[in-house]
Amino acid sequence: MQTPDVPLDELRVADREHWSEGPPLEQFKRMRSQCPVHWSPGMTEYPEEPGFWSITTQADVHTVSRDWETYSSEIGGMLAMPARFFPVDVQNGMFIGMDPPKHDRLKALFQRGFTPRRIAEHEDEIRAITREVLDRLEGRETCDLVHDVAQPIVSRVIGAFMGIDPEDDAVWARLMNATISADDPDQNPEGPATVMERDMPEIIERCQKLIAARIANPTADLTTVLVDAEVDGEKLTEWEIVMGFILLMTAGNDSTKATYCSGMRALMDHPDQRRLLLDDPSLIPDAVEEALRMFPSFAHFRRTASRDAELGGQQIKRGDKVVMWYPSTGRDESVYEDPDRFDVTRKPEHQAFGAGGRHFCLGTALARLELRVMIEETLARFPAMTLDGEPRFAKAIFINQLTTLPVRLHG
Ligand code: HEM
Repeated sequence: MQTPDVPLDELRVADREHWSEGPPLEQFKRMRSQCPVHWSPGMTEYPEEPGFWSITTQADVHTVSRDWETYSSEIGGMLAMPARFFPVDVQNGMFIGMDPPKHDRLKALFQRGFTPRRIAEHEDEIRAITREVLDRLEGRETCDLVHDVAQPIVSRVIGAFMGIDPEDDAVWARLMNATISADDPDQNPEGPATVMERDMPEIIERCQKLIAARIANPTADLTTVLVDAEVDGEKLTEWEIVMGFILLMTAGNDSTKATYCSGMRALMDHPDQRRLLLDDPSLIPDAVEEALRMFPSFAHFRRTASRDAELGGQQIKRGDKVVMWYPSTGRDESVYEDPDRFDVTRKPEHQAFGAGGRHFCLGTALARLELRVMIEETLARFPAMTLDGEPRFAKAIFINQLTTLPVRLHG
């Protein structure tokens, strides 16, 4: 962790050494108070990379998110890390890496299936999956909440949406985790390049097989939606289908898992807050929002300036990278009183799903439902669960997740 005597313009917020115990909240706090739109040096390990603008307050992230004509998702990719590990043309195959009009047309294909009402129809199924996974803990004293609980639940939920056979869940979980944590040296010791060389071809091959099966036999799953999709009278190319599939799988796999685990950890760290939920489970949806505020699954998304602009008194130049840091905006003291306090009654209007612009999260209703059901079922089954060892964070600046959360199930 960098100490306060480091000059402001040398704060290297993206260096992963500062993320080993979660996001560098002290650095973000300093930026918010002294320079909320901060020119941050690039990651030390990639000296060829120029720096980027760090956007650290809720108001400025709101501005950037809603102005896609100035802040493009397409030009330079969506991540702060160097594009060579996840090439921009690959990212551009997913609608998260596109600007309007193509983005809007592709997203519209899915939106009907992701409305709160349509998603609510899946509650019984998600609850049954959650209970089945928790049943497997019968007779055990301890477990790892990441691997034994969160992963199998989120894998089966998104697997059912995409039409994946349950016996393939573990393989897809491995592939998706490798991709999304490509830059984490603990999870990918061979380095991020290996993921593109080794895992991406396997993902594409498996996906092509599934696409061929759906062309032959359409079903009601989201892979079939992609296969059938037409934009401006034209079918998607196979590459666009593969990329659409990867986007949904990645978003569905790691995101909910991350916030569930961090939220459960917070409840174990704050028994008074857990007591409130045990006494009144109707507070659980509010606890979900508080967990999203404090522990957003994604630490950042990036834009690239398509023209010169002014933001927070800074001159943004065309071509500059602009990085929105959600762990910082969730602690913005101009919006939240005592922002580091975990308070399940707070009802925050956080930005963990984005700030309402074109790219606002498609899966919001699904994520909220999954998180609510997972927390409800876990608390009902294991109300006295306690930590049983040191949780470990991913050493990554994109996915903001615990990689291990050892717990004692009955306290
Ligand atoms: C706690 C869970 C989740 C969080 C915190 C989250 C967060 C986000 C954020 C911040 C964005 C905006 C990206 C940007 O502005 O560039 C986003 C986009 C997206 N999310 Fe989620 N997400 C979650 C769960 C899900 C789930 C379960 C799905 C669906 C399977 C999903 C699908 C998507 C898609 C498709 C986009 C791209 C939307 C677009 O570009 O228009 N997300 N998500």
